[in-house]
Amino acid sequence: MTTSNEVLIFDTTLRDGEQSPGATMTHNEKLEIAELLDEMGVDIIEAGFPIASEGDFQAVSEIAKLSKSATICGLSRANYKDIDRCWEAVKHARSPRIHTFIGTSPLHRAIPNLTMDEMAERIHDTVTHARNLCDNVQWSPMDATRTEWDYLCRVVEIAIKAGATTINIPDTVGYTAPVESADLIRRLITNVPGADDVIFATHCHNDLGMATANSLAAVEGGARQIECTINGLGERAGNTALEEVVMALKVRNDIMPYTTKIDTRKIINISRRVATVSGFAVQYNKAIVGKNAFAHESGIHQDGMLKNRETFEVMKPEDVGLAGTSLPLGKHSGRAALRAKLAELGFDLADNQLNDIFVRFKDLADRKKEVFDDDLMALVYQNDSAEDRLKLKSLRVVCGTQGPQTADMVMEIDGADVETSATGDGPVDATFNAVKALFPHGARLQLYQVSAVTEGTDAQATVSVRMEEDGRIATGQSADTDTVVASAKAYINALNRLLVRREQSEPGYDVKGVSYKDT
Ligand code: KIV
Ligand code: ZN
Repeated sequence: MTTSNEVLIFDTTLRDGEQSPGATMTHNEKLEIAELLDEMGVDIIEAGFPIASEGDFQAVSEIAKLSKSATICGLSRANYKDIDRCWEAVKHARSPRIHTFIGTSPLHRAIPNLTMDEMAERIHDTVTHARNLCDNVQWSPMDATRTEWDYLCRVVEIAIKAGATTINIPDTVGYTAPVESADLIRRLITNVPGADDVIFATHCHNDLGMATANSLAAVEGGARQIECTINGLGERAGNTALEEVVMALKVRNDIMPYTTKIDTRKIINISRRVATVSGFAVQYNKAIVGKNAFAHESGIHQDGMLKNRETFEVMKPEDVGLAGTSLPLGKHSGRAALRAKLAELGFDLADNQLNDIFVRFKDLADRKKEVFDDDLMALVYQNDSAEDRLKLKSLRVVCGTQGPQTADMVMEIDGADVETSATGDGPVDATFNAVKALFPHGARLQLYQVSAVTEGTDAQATVSVRMEEDGRIATGQSADTDTVVASAKAYINALNRLLVRREQSEPGYDVKGVSYKDT
């Protein structure tokens, strides 16, 4: 049984999180998130699934090359080709890890149609193969919490004997409960020969809303690695949220005496960045990172808070990186004030980047009396780039109680200006119709989401638009004090991303028909 009280944080935002339909990130966004995770003190970054596509492979390789402190891990199925490709990508890291998995529960065994013995042999062979390439190998029996107890013990033992250094126990479908989660890890550590020589990890999904509780319970049972994602991003109801387990261990260290290396003051920044690039907005009342997590609106609460913060707060906003009382900037604020404020928010920008943001800041300050920290973050994270093929030049929308609404739009498409006038059922519909008229496409709108960056009628609106074309999905974002302009820019941003994806697209790797020993 592991005795150290240090819990390793394994972040899988870029793999399990990104796997969530619609959460696809661009290459540069993945590099940026990996850098933020590394700086925050994450022990292991699961950077992707290298065999899944050339894009995934390139991202994992690049993240491995750029890694500073974190171990860089790639995922691979239980076949030699996957494992080799994974190694090719992670081997550049200062500290590489191969993660290989296979579904061991009755339902998952039925997919490759393997008997228990055949699967056991495959586990032995593939873990051995991985270990011959890399000293650091993680093995996962997918759907472990629904795998027969005896068989789970048998395959965990085989993986340990074959050289796995971390055994991850996934609750793939979010089925377990805290008491069971602790008990499962405890019993595995007690019963499986060799268990003392490896680290046990917990990997929980949130289908029943118990991922955080299950992960913490697994630690009580002896797990010393928690697998999680920023904002709990992940398929279906998501994965365990990194910010929740880390803050729970910090705030309730009296009853859970475990430590992590996470610099919790970096949580808010990375949470917002992941929300922006994934297009998955954080719910307002989400623990730790939700907009309302530290807001005390009601009179009784405010009174109590003024007398003593601890009346209604179990942690300080500063602990997760929310600036205390921060004065907003205004239209008279200069470049130096902007630079100082951005530095306070954790942005160390080059002069040309600062100049660019200063122009946007002045434009915003002309339209909005007070520019708050959140407004500045939205400005820094504007998504448009000089390489975009489609750009919005101007938009004028006429609204009225007697529809239809009309949008007059000028766009630049591959360097040439084009214009049109389109009508629609509401200003946003008219605007999207104008874009479609100027740039006909077959992409389908999957999601349109608006949220206010700050309070007040002059607040900026952040708009997320998710589009789908032939199975490729892209999310675009934009922020503006004018919701319709933000909507147009977000829609165009999503189209630009789809175009990049279309140019880079390649068929996914098909596991069917591939022998696991094919190299
Ligand atoms: O949920 C799961 O089982 C996984 C495995 C690949 C570890 O993500
Ligand atoms: Zn998972």
